[in-house]
Amino acid sequence: MNDPRIGVCFVCLGNICRSPTAEGVMQHLVTKARLEERFLIDSAGTGAYHVGERADPRSRAEARRRGLELGSRARQFVAGDYARFDYVIAMDRSNHRHLEGLARGPADLAKLFLLRSFEQNPHELDVPDPYYGGERGFADVFDIALRGCRGLLAHIRAEHGC
Ligand code: 4NP
Repeated sequence: MNDPRIGVCFVCLGNICRSPTAEGVMQHLVTKARLEERFLIDSAGTGAYHVGERADPRSRAEARRRGLELGSRARQFVAGDYARFDYVIAMDRSNHRHLEGLARGPADLAKLFLLRSFEQNPHELDVPDPYYGGERGFADVFDIALRGCRGLLAHIRAEHGC
């Protein structure tokens, strides 16, 4: 509750593919910037289908190819998470709508963003769900997470002067 860290929570549907990837990428960028003590980074899903599971093996394999280990366990986003996090980052517009429905008022809504809104020139607003697709989808998710998280970190650093 009184945690002074800047809280960032990435949210997708299952919390096993897209949001754990974004969480791992953001943690990596923050650590590289030597800001890890300033940040609390997490992820969650709007759905409960995979609660307790590790990230999808295909997401973990892609992250490992890029030098990252994804250590998260899936959990479901709850309305109370708005109290813990300053930035709630939806992976697609469906997640965004769900999170709008959980917001307790304007202060919560002001914390809600789409990841791709932090890209320079996104050609679409959703991070495509790779779950039912091939390996290429997981590489694409990693690339999108990298671009979005770079933009998000720059935005947060500007807002917080850090
Ligand atoms: P994610 O991908 O939202 O990126 O974690 C999905 C994982 C599982 C399901 C859907 C999307 N599912 O329906 O089980």
